[in-house]
Amino acid sequence: VYDPAALAGTVDVRVHIAAVADAHAPAARDRYLALLTDDERARHARLAREASRDQLLVGRALARHALSRARPVPPEAWRFEAGRHGRPEVSAPAPGPAEARLRFNLSHAAGLVVCAVAEEVDVGVDIEGLDPRRPCQALAARFFAPPEAAAVDALDGDRQRACFFALWTLKEAYLKARGLGLSIALDRFWFQLAPDAPPAIAFAPGFDDDPQAWRFVQRHLGADHVLAVAVRTGGRPARVSVESWGAAA
Ligand SMILES: CC(C)(COP(=O)(O)OP(=O)(O)OC[C@H]1O[C@@H](n2cnc3c(N)ncnc32)[C@H](O)[C@@H]1OP(=O)(O)O)[C@@H](O)C(=O)NCCC(=O)NCCS
Repeated sequence: VYDPAALAGTVDVRVHIAAVADAHAPAARDRYLALLTDDERARHARLAREASRDQLLVGRALARHALSRARPVPPEAWRFEAGRHGRPEVSAPAPGPAEARLRFNLSHAAGLVVCAVAEEVDVGVDIEGLDPRRPCQALAARFFAPPEAAAVDALDGDRQRACFFALWTLKEAYLKARGLGLSIALDRFWFQLAPDAPPAIAFAPGFDDDPQAWRFVQRHLGADHVLAVAVRTGGRPARVSVESWGAAA
């Protein structure tokens, strides 16, 4: 519920980016592997596809690096636990009595991994490559809410693709911030995009959330990737900074 008293203070979100190819340099791979727990290393070794192994390795290493930028905790000390819908959260070290809990969210796209970190609040991130093979119009018609499908339909070529991926990443970032996975129907919430305003969310009647509680930020990374961040600020402004790690720096 919108609460004017909660307006004080800006919510900071740090987004860290790493290149998946970092996992191919033997020195970096060994350094990243040393950051993982025994369980994570065992999972890594069991994965059959190299791409899945790289994602797990770089994702976990990046999350530890990102969290250690926010707290004086060595990267290898962080522990994670997945919630009911699979969303990993920090399980240790636990925050001290005066410290807010750190929250994070990871996303993978061809070639890149991103990790968003915020204090206490729900945060979600999604990155996508602007894949020219994706049938944007058909996917929007099938999965998006009618106002979003109409917005995609009204464009063509590169502008249509840009609009589709902008909406896709925003929807996914919101779902990931909620942490409920695909139990939320994709056509029950939608985004309005305007050239000079931040993205705004709207909900279908009866949908249990408050649009005023959320802030959304979208960024283009080079010509090939787009990224969206969703953060439940409770009405406060959000500030999103992006920094690169490893060979992506
Ligand atoms: C699992 C899901 C949360 C994201 O999956 P995805 O888009 O394939 O992948 P991403 O790379 O963006 O995110 C994966 C990361 O999200 C995190 N994650 C897993 N479950 C999560 C959940 N319930 N909520 C938030 N984050 C979650 C994990 O850290 C995971 O990475 P890891 O396995 O290396 O730890 C889920 O939303 C999903 O399956 N989406 C399907 C895609 C889709 O249909 N999107 C429609 C958008 S319009």
